[in-house]
Amino acid sequence: MCPLSIKEIKERRRIVCICRAIPMFRIRDALRLPDCRTVEDVNRITGCGRGDCGGKRCRPVIEEVLQEASQSIDLTS
Ligand code: FES
Repeated sequence: MCPLSIKEIKERRRIVCICRAIPMFRIRDALRLPDCRTVEDVNRITGCGRGDCGGKRCRPVIEEVLQEASQSIDLTS
């Protein structure tokens, strides 16, 4: 049985960068890497932000995910 709910699976597969068809799970996976701490790091690792819109659509979502990640780190430290 899959440990994730349907809602969690849909969220992981949600396309964040429409221009490059990059899903949320690629962003979250990148954030597990020790050298991924900024939007620019995410862009470099995943390719987000390098599409036709130059990151205008995906950058706000990446910033939101980074904010969530930093808050969860603060709670556990
Ligand atoms: S949506 Fe990411 S570069 Fe356009």
